[in-house]
Amino acid sequence: MARNKYDVDEVLEDKFDVNQLKRLAGYILPHKKVMLVVLFLMLSSSALGMLTPRFFMAVMDKCIPAGDMKGIIIYAVLTTLISLYLCICLRIKIKLMTRVGQGIIHSLRYDIFTHLQELPFSYYDERPHGKIQVRVVNYVNNLSDLLSNGIINTITDLCNLIFIIFFMFSINVRLTLVCLCGLPVLFTVVVLIKKKQRKAWQIQSNKQSNLNAYIAESINGIRVTQAFVREEENSGIFNRLSNNCRDAWMVAVKYLFLMGPTVDIISTFTSAAIYVLGITWMMKPDSGITVGVLIAFTAYIGRFWTPINTLASFYNSLLTAISYLERIFETIDEPVRIKDKEGAKEMPPIQGKVEFKDVTFSYEEGVEILKKVNFTAEKGQTVAIVGPTGAGKTTIVNLLSRFYNVDSGEVLIDGINIEDVTTRSLRTQMGVMMQDSFIFGGTIMDNIRYGNKEVSDEAVVRAAKTVCAHDFIMNMENGYDTQVNERGSRLSQGQRQLISFARALLADPKILILDEATSSIDTETEILLQQGLNKLLEGRTSFIIAHRLSTIKNADFIMYIDHGGIKEIGSHEELLEQKGDYYHLYMSQYDFLKEEKQEESQS
Ligand SMILES: Nc1ncnc2c1ncn2[C@@H]1O[C@H](COP(=O)(O)OP(=O)(O)OP(=O)(O)O)[C@@H](O)[C@H]1O
Ligand SMILES: [Mg+2]
Repeated sequence: MARNKYDVDEVLEDKFDVNQLKRLAGYILPHKKVMLVVLFLMLSSSALGMLTPRFFMAVMDKCIPAGDMKGIIIYAVLTTLISLYLCICLRIKIKLMTRVGQGIIHSLRYDIFTHLQELPFSYYDERPHGKIQVRVVNYVNNLSDLLSNGIINTITDLCNLIFIIFFMFSINVRLTLVCLCGLPVLFTVVVLIKKKQRKAWQIQSNKQSNLNAYIAESINGIRVTQAFVREEENSGIFNRLSNNCRDAWMVAVKYLFLMGPTVDIISTFTSAAIYVLGITWMMKPDSGITVGVLIAFTAYIGRFWTPINTLASFYNSLLTAISYLERIFETIDEPVRIKDKEGAKEMPPIQGKVEFKDVTFSYEEGVEILKKVNFTAEKGQTVAIVGPTGAGKTTIVNLLSRFYNVDSGEVLIDGINIEDVTTRSLRTQMGVMMQDSFIFGGTIMDNIRYGNKEVSDEAVVRAAKTVCAHDFIMNMENGYDTQVNERGSRLSQGQRQLISFARALLADPKILILDEATSSIDTETEILLQQGLNKLLEGRTSFIIAHRLSTIKNADFIMYIDHGGIKEIGSHEELLEQKGDYYHLYMSQYDFLKEEKQEESQS
């Protein structure tokens, strides 16, 4: 069985790329002031916190033997004040860092989303959309913890560690050296599992992406699934992908869970060694080790291993984060293939002459869909494009809107190569109605207007009237303010087409492209629509793709597309006279209509 795209893992990067972190730093730097404040709070509180074991030591070794009650009280009050300061700092830190973390995530998500908006159709052709979504939503979210607390915690932990080592040395050098013996063991463990751990997280992110892609696809295809009773099979596929995801997760956390116990074991062994050696040395005169020293020292050991433990788990989240960052930056770096040329001009107001000169195009390398296509449409002409399914009709109009770049040849509008002007200035002057009319969640009014703020409500209604959509819209419970769902599931196919049609008209385009605009609309409405449209099309160049030939008879010329090129071109009458493919196509529809009419009159 051929593997589906959701089954194919994305390519993993081999090397741990420090540049990813450098780029992330670019997002963190704008928040450096707040972070410095937090860092100061954390460092000051942990430095003060370090003093408390020393207070114990002083109480044990000095105040208690001397019966100095006042001293004990002073140390007790100081310890309480320090704890209070610690609490306040912690509270401020949590608040500020959560804000910083969310701020960074917002910028990252914004960048990835705005970039996605600019990526060409071909990017979306190549991969399941669920895999794109998972980057914007889940991966970015997963960085949240790392960014909001991880970085500050790591810096404070590192500083803590330095403080602790300093204090430990200041109390007793020999005991400190014993304690530090545990570190090389830990390092060895980290180095040994590092590579595997990184790979495990990468695989996990891949499996999550696959699962997401499948879920997204299943939701989009739910109607077909239920119509073909494929629920069980789909649950099976889901089960497999979800299991893969779980297994990958279990492998990845195995390494994470290895770290905690390793640190614990090392810390237990070093603590034991310190007790044994400490007490042995305490017996000897002049060793400088007292009960107070030993108590203070063991308190420091406890604190010594805590930051190491958190550093180890930070290291783990860093590895996870990098596997996500790779994907996020990969998306942001994806070249906008339909990018405006350096110094691209604005398209001047379009007059309407359209030329294709030797246009060759392929979606995938080696499979040419159009081969050296040539035609010219003069200003104001209506051009009909017909031909069998998959012939390349939609492709021609896709190239005209520059949704894809041609492989060779030129597409000219008013003699200007469309690759020399900005896509924005080009597309704002064109009205495109695509074959799959997409409806967005929102009101009908918003859907027709679709972000075009300059358009008044009256203009929307006028456009709707032109395409005969006004009546059915007014019949809905709230008229133009009726809410429709994403994909327009409340509307019939024909109604969706009419709304998209109105949307295309609204921009007052000089070039109008209608791809199967009326294929789902009943013939009666279509005739009415045609009348309104004929007036509207005057002075505009329009390209009409239709399988129903009755709609295009009046076109200035008709192009019959097949086998990668224009097979026949001419007016309806001319093509009928040629008795070629168009003639046969027309006749088959004509015969069909005739038969239908006869049947009607008989019954
Ligand atoms: N995004 C794509 N990636 C790869 N190949 C594509 C893509 N879109 C279309 N094709 C291929 O290009 C050819 C032309 O497709 P096109 O959509 O232009 O056909 P069409 O003439 O509009 O057909 P229809 O009448 O069914 O709408 C088809 O053979 C199709 O397989
Ligand atoms: Mg098509």
